[in-house]
Amino acid sequence: MTASLDHLRGRFLVFDGPDGSGKSTQFRRLVEAVEAQGITVCEVREPGGTHIGEQIRDLVLHYKDNIDGEMDKRCEMLLFMASRAQLISQRIQPALDAGQLVLADRFISSTLAYQGTAGGLPVADILRVGQVALGKTWPDLVVVFDVDEQTAASRLSPLLDRMEARGAAYHRLVRQGYHDQAQQDPNRYRMIDATHDPDTVYQAVIQTLTQWSPK
Ligand code: TYD
Repeated sequence: MTASLDHLRGRFLVFDGPDGSGKSTQFRRLVEAVEAQGITVCEVREPGGTHIGEQIRDLVLHYKDNIDGEMDKRCEMLLFMASRAQLISQRIQPALDAGQLVLADRFISSTLAYQGTAGGLPVADILRVGQVALGKTWPDLVVVFDVDEQTAASRLSPLLDRMEARGAAYHRLVRQGYHDQAQQDPNRYRMIDATHDPDTVYQAVIQTLTQWSPK
């Protein structure tokens, strides 16, 4: 029996972490647990989650860098942010207004880690674009599934998308990016050790969420 998660109603939670962190498995389990408690969940995934967003997803994850030369980093960052702006206005804000729990698989924390810390774009620039794209709709809580690159790589399918195919050094920096964010904004971030088996990680998720109280 899971402890009450009723305090999550009307809140905006993000699950994030490096590729291969297992966050999507944990996401599914949490959705089932909160729904079993009668809480309505609006699930979104990034990039995507709207018709426009799915087209951006296809463009940014499956673009062949040899068509037009490499995709410019700022172009890539702005595409992720554009998809996010649409997702907020079309799905996230209306769900929050209706008192639903919004659960997002990735959000601006991914852009800060991948395009920022790992990709080399200044984090301050991404945050400025984020102010425009997100407006007042910032997550209440970001749960980061923390995993080393070796464990993460062993969990990935051999068919990699553009981001996943980037090398070990990039993925080490992605992880560092999440650590930096958590250090800079400790009230909004919680790190979970995602190297363990799924049941152990899930226990940690539930413990983290039951102990968290919205401001
Ligand atoms: P996806 O197939 O959704 O992977 P996952 O199940 O790990 O979420 O791929 C999303 C990829 O896009 C992932 O490698 C992270 C990357 N990404 C960014 O680089 N920046 C972003 O802002 C977002 C949302 C995702």
